Amino acid sequence: MISQNTIDKILEASDITEVIGEYVTLKRRGVNMMGNCPFHNEKTPSFVVSPTKGIFKCFGCGRAGNSVGFIMEHNALSYPEALRWLASKYHIEIEEDEVNRDEILAQKSDREALLAALSFANKYFIGNLHDDPEGVSIGKSYFLERGLREDTLKNFELGYAKRSWNDFADSAISNQLDPEILIKAGLIKKREKKEDDNEEESYYDVYRDRVTFPIHDIAGRVIAFGARQLNKEDKGPKYINSPENDVYHKSKVLYGMFQAKKAIRKKDNCYLTEGYLDVITLHQNGIENVVASSGTSLTTEQVKLIGRFTDNVTVLYDGDPAGIKAAMRGTDIILENNLNIKIVLFPEGEDPDSLCKKIGADAFSKYITDNQQDFILFKTNHLLSESKNDPIKKAQVIRDVVESIAKVPDSIKRSVFIKETAVRLETDERVLISEANRIRLKDNEKAAKQIDREIENLVSNENGFSEIEINSGEFKEYAIIKALILFGKETMDEEITVLQYLLNELVSNKIEFEKEEYSNILKVVEEQNKNMGFVDEFFYKNHEKISSLASGIILDSQKYLLSENWEKIAEIKVLTDKENYRKEITQNVLYLKKEHINNLIKINAEKLKNASDVDEVNSLLEIQTRILMLRKELLKETGTSITDV
Ligand code: UTP
Ligand code: MN
Repeated sequence: MISQNTIDKILEASDITEVIGEYVTLKRRGVNMMGNCPFHNEKTPSFVVSPTKGIFKCFGCGRAGNSVGFIMEHNALSYPEALRWLASKYHIEIEEDEVNRDEILAQKSDREALLAALSFANKYFIGNLHDDPEGVSIGKSYFLERGLREDTLKNFELGYAKRSWNDFADSAISNQLDPEILIKAGLIKKREKKEDDNEEESYYDVYRDRVTFPIHDIAGRVIAFGARQLNKEDKGPKYINSPENDVYHKSKVLYGMFQAKKAIRKKDNCYLTEGYLDVITLHQNGIENVVASSGTSLTTEQVKLIGRFTDNVTVLYDGDPAGIKAAMRGTDIILENNLNIKIVLFPEGEDPDSLCKKIGADAFSKYITDNQQDFILFKTNHLLSESKNDPIKKAQVIRDVVESIAKVPDSIKRSVFIKETAVRLETDERVLISEANRIRLKDNEKAAKQIDREIENLVSNENGFSEIEINSGEFKEYAIIKALILFGKETMDEEITVLQYLLNELVSNKIEFEKEEYSNILKVVEEQNKNMGFVDEFFYKNHEKISSLASGIILDSQKYLLSENWEKIAEIKVLTDKENYRKEITQNVLYLKKEHINNLIKINAEKLKNASDVDEVNSLLEIQTRILMLRKELLKETGTSITDV
């Protein structure tokens, strides 16, 4: 386990604007910073970062936390993984608490084991390419012949898998890697045993006599490989790709995103190509905002991934019929996600890799600028050229194009597209508008039916009603936690603070929150208070289990600081908050007590129903009377009438 001392060092070093700024463009607004949320698609910023408090919150999707929480969410890491990630960013040495080291090693999850295996394989393949005689003469010379430079090989961590049947398997297993994990990672396979074969298990390599392209996740960890054969005459597929597993989900990954993300944000544009080598060659020529879909059709998740960095996609595909088809397939998904698409077709037989090599970087960039077409126009032109003035076919073209336009969520964009297409198709704009509206209505109906079904499910759910009841209680519980975090150090009366008051009233009376998360917070806070004598904001916003909730609450209370004249508003807001918090806390605590007592009455009544002997009944009756008295007192305090209970 990472020591508290190290965690503190990491928290201290991790400047939130620096950590988040690597992924999100932040602009100053009042005392805070704002940007487009990286966790959901949005056009107007609702993602707020407080540099002074070291926390973030998205007012759109509700995600909140400190630097560690951000890295966990953004890079899909566990808490310790995120701490390690930050430690390595800030060159902080990690101390482990000795006690738990073995335990942790033993529990190392499959995910971590897979990542470790893939990372080992990556280093091994890279080592082959640069240091092994076979790797240098076969693998490296292949890349150099294709025009790649030494620094490019290093940057993309290209490697070589040897001809041998088991050089990798032997090396990995002798380095203590688990064969089962290596199999899951798609790196080795088990050799089929013959009957009566008493020999030990043996394994062979999946990649042999191939160059390797590691695929990185957005945080730069190797999660898969593509391995290319070296000669056309070789048997087997041109590329062998990793299987899907706990760390690799093909539909969520774009090749080269790790190397390209900064450039994509800076250029505010993403070039989408088909192949590994397209990405690498363009990169080598200074065109770095480029990723590849790796020969499969584009998925919504991949488009959303691009959308985290830019709204603009330029699809660079081969101009042959297959390339055009592939381009068409991906584009509706891009439109649906409200990104702008341009398309560049290449001369037949050329891909970005070959064309860039042939004409050089400058001419290549010029080619893109000169040949990029807006997607809708491209689709219109392409379909029109196929329809060849046949009026029936032309009607179909109109429908096809409008079908795509109808997918665009933004109404202004839609109407611009419709104007352009009307001109190009020599059609009345109104015809296109009504056709687009008809399609959208149909799609909306589908969506509406879906929502109806979901509501029906909810209502028919037996627990539906009691869930609503619990929610109103949950809201009060939330209000108490909020008061604890925001006003814990303020006074409740002359003698005690809000924190002490809440601990007295709730913990001492054994009143538990309905929501487990809140009960756990109270326990942690009580413990901290016992040890330190106080609990401060730093503790709330950086505690593993509380950070996200607390950061959200703190920034919620500061929303007004985003306003232009925040200083004035802040003054008023603080005043009203201070006037109200005591009253609110008292009322909410009373509510919880009332709930607690009602519960006790119910439990006791249940016991009474089942009680068999007289003594038991008598003592239960006595308890019941006492609880009822308590309730009466409580009601006097709250001023609620009996019927409310
Ligand atoms: P290409 O055939 O264009 O490959 O396939 P390439 O990477 O440009 O390689 P060169 O230029 O011919 O050497 C485009 C992409 O499709 C995927 C790979 O991701 C490749 O980069 N692909 C292709 C496969 O996954 N398997 C295959 O057998 C072929
Ligand atoms: Mn190619």
